[in-house]
Amino acid sequence: MAKVKTVFYCSNCGAESAKWVGKCGSCNEWNTYQEEVIQKGNIAQATRPAGENEPVPIHDIETQSERRTVLLDSEFNRVLGGGLVPGSVALIGGEPGIGKSTLMLQIALNFTAGTVVYITGEESEQQIKMRSERVPGQSECLVYTETATHEAIKRLKKIKPSLVVVDSIQTMHSPFIESTPGSVSQIRESASDFIQYAKTSQVPVILIGHITKEGNIAGPKILEHMVDTVLQFEGDRNHVYRLLRANKNRFGSTNELGIYEMTGQGLRQVSNPSEILIQSHEEGLSGSAVSATMEGLRPMLIEIQALVSTAVYGTPQRSATGFDLRRLNMLLAVMEKRCGFKLGIKDVFLNLAGGVRVEDPGIDLAVVASVLSSNLDIAIESGTVFSAEVGLSGEVRPVTRIEQRISEAEKLGFKRIFVSKYNKGLKLSGNIEVIQCSKVEDMFRRLFT
Ligand code: TYD
Ligand code: MG
Repeated sequence: MAKVKTVFYCSNCGAESAKWVGKCGSCNEWNTYQEEVIQKGNIAQATRPAGENEPVPIHDIETQSERRTVLLDSEFNRVLGGGLVPGSVALIGGEPGIGKSTLMLQIALNFTAGTVVYITGEESEQQIKMRSERVPGQSECLVYTETATHEAIKRLKKIKPSLVVVDSIQTMHSPFIESTPGSVSQIRESASDFIQYAKTSQVPVILIGHITKEGNIAGPKILEHMVDTVLQFEGDRNHVYRLLRANKNRFGSTNELGIYEMTGQGLRQVSNPSEILIQSHEEGLSGSAVSATMEGLRPMLIEIQALVSTAVYGTPQRSATGFDLRRLNMLLAVMEKRCGFKLGIKDVFLNLAGGVRVEDPGIDLAVVASVLSSNLDIAIESGTVFSAEVGLSGEVRPVTRIEQRISEAEKLGFKRIFVSKYNKGLKLSGNIEVIQCSKVEDMFRRLFT
């Protein structure tokens, strides 16, 4: 057995210390020391026979067609970029109780390409069994209660599964490191053991990770560099919708979004998100506007609600759910300057339907329209959609894939869509009226005068 020694390194400047210290003596940063494991291996084992691992010209490398395992869960496939890649390691993070264990168990129970081992360090076998009775899926899945990483890997090598789920990486520990489970060095060591196992055996491994108060995956940031895919499972716990995003993906795009609904029988895939994200109103309500956004390659219509009211306290309040607050402040400043509304003395609240979060800039114009509508207390004519970005001088900017957005709005029965005048090569056809604006004022005039 190789000798194991631990040392502390400053994560800022790399200084070394035998003990943990609060303040780094060389760069004066606080709380940067982290424990690292140094394994003194045997030199004879480390040197390879000559000629085994030579650099190769890139043209001589044969392309292998990817053998992805396509899962039954099409939302998960979409986020992964078309299925699980052999030997890949994915890390899925999310707040406690959001449904990470439910999602992974559901995937395990619907896995048809071989045996799945669900390693649990968090819940007992009985708890997993109880959960499995609620979620759909029949396939055989081995539940394995284990928290020692090396034991788990030893067992996995015997079982030879086709997929491994680890719930969660924070509960796994390696006896070769003295620190407690969940500490930085333990997480890193366990993760690197699982990564090595995945790469050598070509078995895909999914690690469930906890997140910190700030919303990052708990443990060393380096963990996210080590794995192939970092997924985030998010949503408002008071809403039923859950979003799965890829923050990093070595085998696909990071733009794709998977949408689920938490039901009494596990998570249901939502394949047509627009229908759930727009509430149909009989009569027009002021402050509500619909935007045609894109999440990855999928168009999605979403309703935005704004409430503008006179500030009761000295400082006006601004709050946004599902939308970047700084961007809202910027749009308010644009409206103040370009449309002449005194929004500086008003409270502004903004809410996206269904508890979703949207990053597509194409939502800007709908945000502006909903705020203006609430401020004037005039409803926007029903059947209207918006899809454009708003720039600092109040110009209405084009967004990507405008045709797809327009046709999605048309498909859902909308009658007119506000877009930028500067969309290149826009083919106008179909039953939807396309209104092209160049400035926020143009839209304002069309809507409210
Ligand atoms: P869980 O998967 O335990 O979350 P995590 O692993 O991210 O901590 O999610 C549990 C929550 O989901 C819990 O509040 C109950 C709810 N739930 C349902 O609403 N329906 C179901 O079918 C299941 C299994 C759980
Ligand atoms: Mg869990």
